[in-house]
Amino acid sequence: MKVLVIGRGGREHSLVQKFAESPQVTKVYAAPGNAGMEEDAECVPVSETSHGELVAFAQESGVDVTFVGPENPLLDGVVDAFKEAGLLVFGPTQEAALIEGSKHYAKQVMKKYSIPTADYEAFKNAEEAKAYIQKKGAPIVVKADGLAAGKGVVVAETTDQAVEAVDEMLLDRRFGEASKEIVVEEFLQGEEFSLMAFVNGESVYPMVTARDHKRAYEGDEGPNTGGMGAFAPAHDLSEGDYEFAVENILNQTASALVKEGRSFTGILYAGLIQTSEGPKVIEFNARFGDPETQVVLPLLENDLLQVILDVLDDRDPRLAWKDQACAGVVVASAGYPGSYKKGVPLPEWSKQPGLFVVHAGTKKADQTYVSDGGRVLLFGKTADNLETALRDVNQALTVFDASEDFFYRKDIGQSAVVSSNKNIE
Ligand code: AMP
Ligand code: GLY
Repeated sequence: MKVLVIGRGGREHSLVQKFAESPQVTKVYAAPGNAGMEEDAECVPVSETSHGELVAFAQESGVDVTFVGPENPLLDGVVDAFKEAGLLVFGPTQEAALIEGSKHYAKQVMKKYSIPTADYEAFKNAEEAKAYIQKKGAPIVVKADGLAAGKGVVVAETTDQAVEAVDEMLLDRRFGEASKEIVVEEFLQGEEFSLMAFVNGESVYPMVTARDHKRAYEGDEGPNTGGMGAFAPAHDLSEGDYEFAVENILNQTASALVKEGRSFTGILYAGLIQTSEGPKVIEFNARFGDPETQVVLPLLENDLLQVILDVLDDRDPRLAWKDQACAGVVVASAGYPGSYKKGVPLPEWSKQPGLFVVHAGTKKADQTYVSDGGRVLLFGKTADNLETALRDVNQALTVFDASEDFFYRKDIGQSAVVSSNKNIE
């Protein structure tokens, strides 16, 4: 079968690698893809958002199944376009993707169906939002309603900061249409983790948990980024809490969306926080997480294509997971998430058994890879335990230590290693 992956980042490279492993797959296309994918896929120069061209390409090339990676094309209705053309596609329709596209909508669904999440109010009027903030006090969280490339959330430590965020979002329209409405919500304390599932209507097939590291610098300092590294599973979650999250968050949300006439097919991602009252939802995404995908897919034993076909046909894919840990550390361009240089040649790294390399922002110039984005690569490894996986990844990453043009966090996953060692003692 021929598979088309839509997208160009690390998440999509990871999807390409997993599809390429499938004995049923004869060809993987990526649109537009990136330089690193060329080992496993043919990259097609069509942008994620050119729906008509994507559909035409799939038809002309005899693509059997299309998988959509990023949120923007989903919210623009790429899945609807493929379906209208009678093509097999895995991802939510535009209506169903609203669970990610509007934080206010997601909160309304959670409230109506008693899905655990932070208390909130939504506002279009700045004065009303500020009065609510003064009433509730800090810390408090202010969120743009729509997509803001991961930058639309302000965790305010003081009411002044929250008020400033209200002005920026509602009055200055910092995120354009995406911030014409905001959600102001209770600050939740606890460890964060991501729980994703393959979903078709009411059928939910959960994955192992993962934890990403959003801050740019070691010790969780610095600005928020798209993600500087991740590991799976996020093992300090008890079995009871995992079951609770699957039942009361994923299953409940999937069935709520069916009842609301926005039946969801695709990957449902719950960003959760482990509070003293149990797991609560921070956000929903309508797609695989990045970089969570890069550490979750390597733990999946199944043929990914078969999983997708089963889920679409309403058969249980019988997911099986390796009883191992996977860690991935991102190499970023110096300056990211602010401005950074592009076109810097990457140092050569040696292939090591079990080490995998996922490209996010690279291109080829004269047969060598050069940087082409903020997040450049991810080095990852699956091993019997997280400590070993991280040791080998960090060892391999030392090839970047001499360069001032790149940086990576050396502490990805370390807190989990320390706490699991304590448990063993
Ligand atoms: P999001 O873009 O919704 O994932 O939010 C970005 C980050 O803001 C999350 O990863 C959390 O660290 C933080 N955050 C969002 N909502 C809350 C909340 N209600 N309480 C505490 N932290 C939050
Ligand atoms: N890693 C968070 C996200 O993909 O939204």
